[in-house]
Amino acid sequence: MEKIIIAIDGYSSTGKSTIAKRLARELGYIYVDTGAMYRAVTLFAMENGLLDGEVADREGLIRKLGDINIRFVLNDGLGYAETFLNNVNVEERIRTMEVSNRVSGVAAISEVRHKLVEEQRKMGEGKGIVMDGRDIGTVVFPDAELKLFMTASPEIRATRRYKELLGKGKEVTYEEVLENVIDRDYIDSHRKDSPLMKAPDAIELDNTDMGKDEQFERIYNHAMRIIAGK
Ligand code: DC
Repeated sequence: MEKIIIAIDGYSSTGKSTIAKRLARELGYIYVDTGAMYRAVTLFAMENGLLDGEVADREGLIRKLGDINIRFVLNDGLGYAETFLNNVNVEERIRTMEVSNRVSGVAAISEVRHKLVEEQRKMGEGKGIVMDGRDIGTVVFPDAELKLFMTASPEIRATRRYKELLGKGKEVTYEEVLENVIDRDYIDSHRKDSPLMKAPDAIELDNTDMGKDEQFERIYNHAMRIIAGK
């Protein structure tokens, strides 16, 4: 059967990665979390003194971009790939609030985007890939066979993220998480380079009141119809 590219974009904490991972598993496709790549660059900036207070030192970071190597390595026990930055597993560290609070600024730097988009396109050369992010259907793979755009209310997204962070033992308040969700939505959709927006041919999915299984069934059936028609 011919393989396709599935692009999943949308706001933060809309469950993109949950759906993307499950789709990839069912279809035997590769899953790529592009947000993890922007997070890894942000962690690199934090660890290398390339932040001016809260904000990225743009020029300094651009000069060091060649020193950043990001890879995904499958963890058989977990059943999904973990993020490695210069050969160190950073999967845990890229999910902290410190990184979340700074990543939108780093993701707004065009040079950072060029580097990561190029790497993402290489990963998709053989197709058979499910990629989630903010610009996958608009910039990375404008010809993707299936594009989804996921939304949900900021409150429900903050609640989901808050529970997830608490579950991991992180000390955060709901208000902090909600503020981060709203801030990131604003920066991600207003930046000059590749702002978050729905591709005209993407299917919009508002999952504020939709269960995970119902959502998955709809998308999976859709993907199978496209694959069968190839
Ligand atoms: O999906 P996430 O929350 O892990 O993404 C982290 C940040 O990276 C998010 O604020 C926006 C940015 N991002 C982006 O600009 N383009 C992508 N393709 C993926 C993420």
